Amino acid sequence: MTEKDRLDLFMKTPLADFISEDFKTYLLAEGFFRSPASTKYHGAYKGGLFDHSFAVMNFLVELSAKNGLRWKRAESPFIVGMFHDLCKIDNYRHPVIAESLDGQKVYDESKWEYNPNSTFKGHGDKSIILLSQFMTLTEEEIMCIRYHMGAFVEKEEWRDYTGAVHRYANVLWTHQADMLASHVVGI
Ligand SMILES: [Fe+2]
Ligand SMILES: [Fe+2]
Repeated sequence: MTEKDRLDLFMKTPLADFISEDFKTYLLAEGFFRSPASTKYHGAYKGGLFDHSFAVMNFLVELSAKNGLRWKRAESPFIVGMFHDLCKIDNYRHPVIAESLDGQKVYDESKWEYNPNSTFKGHGDKSIILLSQFMTLTEEEIMCIRYHMGAFVEKEEWRDYTGAVHRYANVLWTHQADMLASHVVGI
């Protein structure tokens, strides 16, 4: 699938009408449809970030329908699923394998490494900050994105995660959708 194919898929989701033109421009320009989802785990290939995000969105929409989940707004499972990992938009780059005397760099396009020049570090919190430039999130969406890693975080955060699940059960379903995509489908 090409970057264009992924953009076309995105434009068929309800998000196409929901998000601003500014946000669409940002997603395209910053590489949402061509970034990987990791350096070597799930979705470690060009376009992997979109494929993972699209899969999580579909799982979350399906789980919502099958389990009668209620959200503060109808678009929430689409927003949360598609943008929970927005933080990864500038997290990765190809390693440089050679540099000519005039400064031209040669990249190993088969590999990915962490980009030391990303805007800033963080995961769920970074996704929320980046998203907040383009839309006002509900508290439920914020909690779902912030805690989508479940208990796969520092021990100090387990209590906060439990608290978030108590406040919004959809935090748990978001984690479930993320796990289904990354560890069951492997995307
Ligand atoms: Fe994540
Ligand atoms: Fe994810």
